[in-house]
Amino acid sequence: MPNKLEMNPVRAIRTFPSFPIALVVVGKEEKNIIAVSLVHTFSFNPPLIGIGISPCRYSHELLHRSPNFTVNLPCKELVEETLFCGEKSGKEVDKLEETGLTAVPGHKVDVPTLEECPVSFECRKVQNFDTGDHTWFIGEIVSAHVADGYDRERTLIYWAGEFRTIGELIRGR
Ligand SMILES: Cc1cc2nc3c(=O)[nH]c(=O)nc-3n(C[C@H](O)[C@H](O)[C@H](O)COP(=O)(O)O)c2cc1C
Repeated sequence: MPNKLEMNPVRAIRTFPSFPIALVVVGKEEKNIIAVSLVHTFSFNPPLIGIGISPCRYSHELLHRSPNFTVNLPCKELVEETLFCGEKSGKEVDKLEETGLTAVPGHKVDVPTLEECPVSFECRKVQNFDTGDHTWFIGEIVSAHVADGYDRERTLIYWAGEFRTIGELIRGR
């Protein structure tokens, strides 16, 4: 058995794997992109996806003005753009213009998806609730687009300050 040392819970929670990283587009008139690692499936049928956004983000304000959003999964080639969207605020810079990412009008929601991301989900907000220091916005995927020949091995993932791709396959289920 490993010898486990007691750790402050606020530090320890960061050891919990948080693999997804998404570029979330928010806003109708003023569009913005935010990098989000608090992104999870909340239900398979209906397909619900949740994003955890801190109230101090500009995106939080935009989501309260216009609640729909798109969740776009970047591939590893988009690591710099992803970091940029996770370090700069849309209050100061136009992240769409600065990253050069291409906004494609949503099919079912009034928020664009990102052309360069191989997977895009258009989400219609169904509820939101506060948990500690984040607000969870839960959206139903009303339209989804996946690149032909999508290679999940190129999908960018994130854990403890490091961007990666998926690793060794241990076994199938
Ligand atoms: C890898 C990464 C993951 C992040 N995940 C989240 C997250 O899940 N929720 C959140 O509110 N902010 C997250 N952030 C921080 C925001 O992306 C960052 O503060 C951003 O500049 C906010 O943009 P905005 O002010 O335009 O909304 C993350 C940043 C990085 C680099």
